[in-house]
Amino acid sequence: MLVAGNWKMYKRPAEAGEFCRALREADLGTVDVVVCPPYVSLSEAVAALAMTEIGVAAQNVHWADEGAFTGEVSAPMLRELGVYGTIVGHSERRQYFGETDETVVQRIAAAVKHGLHVIACVGETEAEREAGETEAVLRRQVGAIRDGIVDVDDLVIAYEPVWAIGTGKTATPEIAQEAHALVKSILAVPVLYGGSVKPENAAELAAQPDVDGALVGGASLDVESFATICREASI
Ligand code: 13P
Repeated sequence: MLVAGNWKMYKRPAEAGEFCRALREADLGTVDVVVCPPYVSLSEAVAALAMTEIGVAAQNVHWADEGAFTGEVSAPMLRELGVYGTIVGHSERRQYFGETDETVVQRIAAAVKHGLHVIACVGETEAEREAGETEAVLRRQVGAIRDGIVDVDDLVIAYEPVWAIGTGKTATPEIAQEAHALVKSILAVPVLYGGSVKPENAAELAAQPDVDGALVGGASLDVESFATICREASI
């Protein structure tokens, strides 16, 4: 069971250090724990969590090792900071920054090549779910990853229905289970659930047979709430 906190564009370096020092002291149950701060706060998080089991991951990575790509950050750069992995293909990157299934695959391939663990995000929008397209969307998104990535040992998928992200509308455990089973039938890797995970719903989601953890946004920004989610998912 893995619980990862995606901080999105929250927490400056000093806040990140403070949060991580508090997290070291918290009771996190028995799950594997990862935090994903913004780029500028990665170093502080790595330093504050040194000699612990808590991993630090980025929120995105470029596919080239270096080059004329203004504003981008590469896998070797992240490795040198002591970062353990990265999120790729979050729906906010797909929605607002032109991320496609093709660029997702390129980013995952580069990350894996350089020894980063990857949390690759997939999920349908509300319109797609209402149009009965959920299965087709997941087949396309996960199929692209399956067809493009040979080494999946360090890869997990996060199923994050876009309609559940930041809305308080969590997928029911049944909806999550059905989607996770579909994802695993396409690509046999662990699958995290993301979308309004909170201390109150973490246990029932984690209890589903094909839910292997959680990718938590808003509720990961507070130490007590994040630690409670970790304990609730410790089954
Ligand atoms: P919320 O937990 O804030 O809904 O965000 C989910 C998410 O996008 C995690 O990557």
